[in-house]
Amino acid sequence: MIVVDTVVKRYGSFTAVDGVSLDVRPGEIHGFLGPNGAGKTTTLRMIAGLLKPTSGRIEVNGHDLVKDAEAAKASLGFIPDRPFIYEKLTAGEFLRFHGGLYGIDGDGIQSRVQEMLDLFELRRWENELVESFSHGMKQRLVMSAAFLHRPPAVAVDEPMVGLDPRGARLIKDVFRRMAGHGVGILMSTHTLEVAQELCHRISIINRGQIIAQGTVDDVRKMAGGEDEHLTPVFLKLTGGSGLQEIDEVV
Ligand SMILES: Nc1ncnc2c1ncn2[C@@H]1O[C@H](COP(=O)(O)OP(=O)(O)O)[C@@H](O)[C@H]1O
Ligand SMILES: [Mg+2]
Repeated sequence: MIVVDTVVKRYGSFTAVDGVSLDVRPGEIHGFLGPNGAGKTTTLRMIAGLLKPTSGRIEVNGHDLVKDAEAAKASLGFIPDRPFIYEKLTAGEFLRFHGGLYGIDGDGIQSRVQEMLDLFELRRWENELVESFSHGMKQRLVMSAAFLHRPPAVAVDEPMVGLDPRGARLIKDVFRRMAGHGVGILMSTHTLEVAQELCHRISIINRGQIIAQGTVDDVRKMAGGEDEHLTPVFLKLTGGSGLQEIDEVV
């Protein structure tokens, strides 16, 4: 679904992403974990085709991001960490506009929009302006747009930030349901609890490099195997860097 092969991104002499490789399989929720500044957003923006890697190869649903960029981008749903929404549109208008960008129009669009509004519990807000929405509602609307064209793979950057427990629960349920339908989801997070609860596999990135990869159990074993929760595992693997940025698992 998503294949990242030895990808490097340099900003001048600074290497933000330093040889990252990972893959996301059909039906898999893959957690991309690491402290602030580790290189998660940079990697996801390269997968979305918004940033050009310095070197390495990225494939989305079998399409090479360089040779077959349009097909690669069309087969991905991308949810950035700070999405831009036209606030003067209603939720329904925003989704129909977004569908148009992906070539969904005519009769198909309205039923697809309704389906997404139902899934993300936004139906009653269809005709309200986005500017009146809470953060959680905007986040759900952006997700509705990303899933609207039924992409086989989705990349999402820090989806749980700023959500209340109910909003977070809804998003987790939708991710599980989508994965159950075969969608591959790559999700960056610095919330270990979310990864532990939701992810089939995880990749941990620190200072631009993958330092552990596998199931939560695999990663636990890499750090000695005696810890029940991911927090101490993460601290062992990173030597304590980014400590304040990582939410404690309680
Ligand atoms: N446009 C840029 N120019 C220079 N450095 C950047 C740029 N974008 C990101 N960086 C640096 O790259 C590193 C990785 O950033 P980022 O991918 O946003 O990390 P994360 O999402 O894991 O918090 C950080 O040190 C950040 O300061
Ligand atoms: Mg980030």
